[in-house]
Amino acid sequence: MCGIVGYVGADSAKDVIVDGLKCLEYRGYDSAGIALVSKGKILLRKESGELSKLEKKITAKDFDGQIGIGHTRWATHGSPIRENAHPHLSTDGKIAIVHNGIIENFMQLREELEREHGVTFKSETDSEVIAHLIGLSYAENGGDLVLAVREATGKMHGAYAVCVVAADNPDTIVAIRKDAPLIAGTSDTGSFIASDIPALLKWTRDIYLIENDELVVVNKDEVRIYDADNTRVKREQTHIDWDAAAAEKGGYEHFMLKEIYEQPAGIKETLEVRLGKQGDIKLDGIELSKDYLDNISKVYIVACGTASHAGLIGKSLIEKFAKIPCETDLASEFRYRDPFVDEHTLFICVSQSGETSDTLEALREAKRKGAQILSIVNVVGSSVSRESDHVFYTWAGPEIAVASTKAYTTQLMAFYLIALKMGEIRGVIDKDYQKKIIEELRQLPAKVEKVLEGEKLIEEMAKRYYKKENIFFIGRGMDVATAHEASLKLKEISYINSFSIAAGELKHGTIALIRRQTLFFVLASQDALFEKMLSGIEEIKARKAQVVCITKETNVRAEEVADETFLLPDCMDEVAPILAVVPMQILAYHIAKLRKRNIDKPRNLAKSVTVE
Ligand code: F6R
Repeated sequence: MCGIVGYVGADSAKDVIVDGLKCLEYRGYDSAGIALVSKGKILLRKESGELSKLEKKITAKDFDGQIGIGHTRWATHGSPIRENAHPHLSTDGKIAIVHNGIIENFMQLREELEREHGVTFKSETDSEVIAHLIGLSYAENGGDLVLAVREATGKMHGAYAVCVVAADNPDTIVAIRKDAPLIAGTSDTGSFIASDIPALLKWTRDIYLIENDELVVVNKDEVRIYDADNTRVKREQTHIDWDAAAAEKGGYEHFMLKEIYEQPAGIKETLEVRLGKQGDIKLDGIELSKDYLDNISKVYIVACGTASHAGLIGKSLIEKFAKIPCETDLASEFRYRDPFVDEHTLFICVSQSGETSDTLEALREAKRKGAQILSIVNVVGSSVSRESDHVFYTWAGPEIAVASTKAYTTQLMAFYLIALKMGEIRGVIDKDYQKKIIEELRQLPAKVEKVLEGEKLIEEMAKRYYKKENIFFIGRGMDVATAHEASLKLKEISYINSFSIAAGELKHGTIALIRRQTLFFVLASQDALFEKMLSGIEEIKARKAQVVCITKETNVRAEEVADETFLLPDCMDEVAPILAVVPMQILAYHIAKLRKRNIDKPRNLAKSVTVE
């Protein structure tokens, strides 16, 4: 995710800013930049790629000053090229801004700025509109930076933390936030503003936490905070006693746990930016006509590992909502057959990193055969996204733990939106039913929060079972995919042998493995299949095995037959997979922790598998 650092004081601003940005590198970024104010001018340097590349470009003595703002960018709107890196300048070059977040109405603002003020944009970003809006207002209001920031942000919808400097104001940084973090601090040598605590820990441990809609004026000797009515706010400082490493993880012990907890925000973001005011779905970056969709013979979903499990759910959704036959395959298998793919195939690649070699090669093979490629990707500008015809970005933010969690649930959300939209374009989905599903999706972030509140219960469960050497996961329908994902999560970070299978398949052989005390996690999130799952549990119990059932809180009978249950908030069957996987991620995490595993970097695994 993007990082912001600003400084005004006695030290070299570029050194302070680079040091601060380095502390945010762990969050992931693909370009970086700095703007300094010096001798009535704004000095600007930006580079794509690593911060070290930027550092080499700012060694000159004349590139320095005592006030400035810096940014590391994780691309969302626009590819990770130099032009799209922050800071962005107003047309007259007098204002520089850095921005974290997403401006939802940027297209409208951009068109207005072009039409009414003749602004020429230099980047593809949503953020550049902020520089121009502030620049225009600053000129009109006789250089009142606070007023200009207020006026500009008043026109913006979305989430933002914005920091601003002006060429003719060498003493002040103005910053403002709405739904994106911002903090400030002071030390003996100056004052700081930043998006995240680790950026400031080298200079101060006493920080001001800025609240939504507050504006901050940062001067060398003080930080002043104002509320939305411009009334000065008296804010106590918060003392930070974490070490820097813990701070990077936001207080969580591991990135995996942090990312599990980021899921409500991730799925909300993935959903909300694609929903219009009337709840209509807008898939920017994907243009699929009715004519095209009516004439394809199938959708083919290809991915690896966790992403392939999202693909299994995607298949159910596309068949259910869009009524198009859908096949799934593992990318590593797809390439070594001669699959039926042609110009009548819509080929969907799913990849968090967008760099997985098997997925990329499968994409190329499908392209050679004439298919259109739609990819669901988290990393903007990655190879998969560049080589695709249509891209749906999940915007889960960087996933640092090797074990994928928030990427998975946002991939699921992507499939819901794509499948619903395809059904709508083809005119095969009932409007009221579509509306109901969208309403259910909207409720998911709060329901995932509720599941997360059950962490303690799952931790206790983990304490009971972490010494097991074999664990089974079963489910039916969409729960088969969840069982596979639960099993993969457990084995990859705890190194316990685990096995996942469709519940109905047990009796065709695998049942031979069941003995007294064999542990089964039964995924039963689908009401329509619940009776069948109950008989499956009876069958397992008859062989004296242990059963933990994951089901909705409404399915009280599960408590009578299973040894224990974990209850999910009630929801429609269609959206339950996003809820059902969360306790399984937490279980894997706690079992791995009890077994003292290296959770964020498990043995033999890499975050991005760029070899076949
Ligand atoms: C498991 C995991 C892997 C990845 C797989 C594909 O937790 O992370 O199974 O899902 O290597 O990676 P991407 O999605 O980057 O293509």
